[in-house]
Amino acid sequence: MGKTASVTIVGMGFVGLTTATVFTERGAFVYGVDNDAEKIRNIAKAKAPFFEPELDKLIKKSISSGKLMPTTDLSSATKTSSIVFICVGTPMRENGSVNLEFIEKVSKCLGKEIARARRYVVVCVKSTVPPGTTENIVKKNLETASGKIAGKDFGLIMTPEFLREGSAVADSRNPHLIVIGAGDKKSGSIVRRFFSDLYGRKANILETNIVTAEMIKYANNSFLATKISFINTVANICNRLPGADVDVIAGAIGADPRIGRLFLAAGPGYGGSCFPKDVMGFIDFCSNIGYDPLLLKATDAVNRQQVFSVLKLIEENLGPIEGKTVAILGTAFKRNTDDIRESVSIKLIHELLEKGARVRAHDPMALENTRKLLKDAISYASSVVDAVKDADCIILMTDWDDYKTLVRTLSKYAKRTLVIDTRRFLKMKSTGNLHYVALGRP
Ligand code: UGA
Repeated sequence: MGKTASVTIVGMGFVGLTTATVFTERGAFVYGVDNDAEKIRNIAKAKAPFFEPELDKLIKKSISSGKLMPTTDLSSATKTSSIVFICVGTPMRENGSVNLEFIEKVSKCLGKEIARARRYVVVCVKSTVPPGTTENIVKKNLETASGKIAGKDFGLIMTPEFLREGSAVADSRNPHLIVIGAGDKKSGSIVRRFFSDLYGRKANILETNIVTAEMIKYANNSFLATKISFINTVANICNRLPGADVDVIAGAIGADPRIGRLFLAAGPGYGGSCFPKDVMGFIDFCSNIGYDPLLLKATDAVNRQQVFSVLKLIEENLGPIEGKTVAILGTAFKRNTDDIRESVSIKLIHELLEKGARVRAHDPMALENTRKLLKDAISYASSVVDAVKDADCIILMTDWDDYKTLVRTLSKYAKRTLVIDTRRFLKMKSTGNLHYVALGRP
């Protein structure tokens, strides 16, 4: 397969769309399939359906070069593609289990296409799925709907994705690892060749079996989530220990190569569409196979509790919250995204409202999504100045670059105010009318 390979990517969310545009940048011809017609129309007009740095520019390039073909029609896409990536969502159900309805649906539809295909098609699952899903659901559906046999008449691969929101394009351009979980030798070598053509011979490729590939993804996200819950535990201890500083501790333990410095930034807890869902999904999966994953449960419990650590800091330093005006800076679950899914900011806002606060929120990108969710329960500030003016308490939740100059703004506009910095992002100390409190420092 040469660089002009045609592949189909089903599901134009963060992973699917970013992967599609980066593949085209590297020479592939990609059909981007989604059943959301409006999303496809927008992509065809070179508009990203969500905010992601660099993505708009890249979509424009992919569309104008004719290499990205957005479509709602799976069958026309799969007609010329030898590799099909499944990138549909696997959201969390209320009870923490993974909702696989989109995986079910897509694999059945793909099976019907494979029934008609004359060439050997390799189906690659990129969505995060509980171990066993690729073999027990995807393979079964593909075989039943096609009347063909996996490994003989078509190929099946599980290739997990490690890109992060906010740096999806950069991560996708330079993956630290490409995992190819292959059900059979032939499809493994087809997909290896595809990735080597795209990313060069030096790409770090690991070939393994399907269930190990599925486990790698859960283990990876759960380990990172555990690192965060660990450092948040240390931060909570530091808050009660005069003189102790979580960042100095993180720097020191992170210098130990056995630990590593990344993902040791203490904060309000991890959010987003991945860690909370994947840790819960992994716990649910373990229970189903008769194992009690105590460590994962602790990771999740610490994370759920962390919003109350922030709340405690507010109450200790502000007194009763009722009737106070609280400004929340940052509603996105992290910087450089407009995504508020499982954002700890939103959880904190609910807690504050419950306690009778008047909440005013600001975010450089996520305010529209926040407004859609919280409607008129809170007010929305279009500028940082509007957010902080006359607030009794200001809480920095997301470390957007836009808040770097906050200290200057505060000294000009804030009245007697409590500033809670959940990410220790602000270079400030308490002054006459500003009382500065950082999570992880006493
Ligand atoms: C995460 C993983 O990092 C990706 O490798 C993975 O591909 C992705 O999930 C996925 O499964 O799709 P993402 O959710 O986009 O990526 O964001 P992260 O940068 O991992 O941050 C997740 C949360 O952890 C955020 O709320 C962030 O603020 C928090 N975090 C992160 C910390 O509190 N401290 C840290 O040191 C790092």
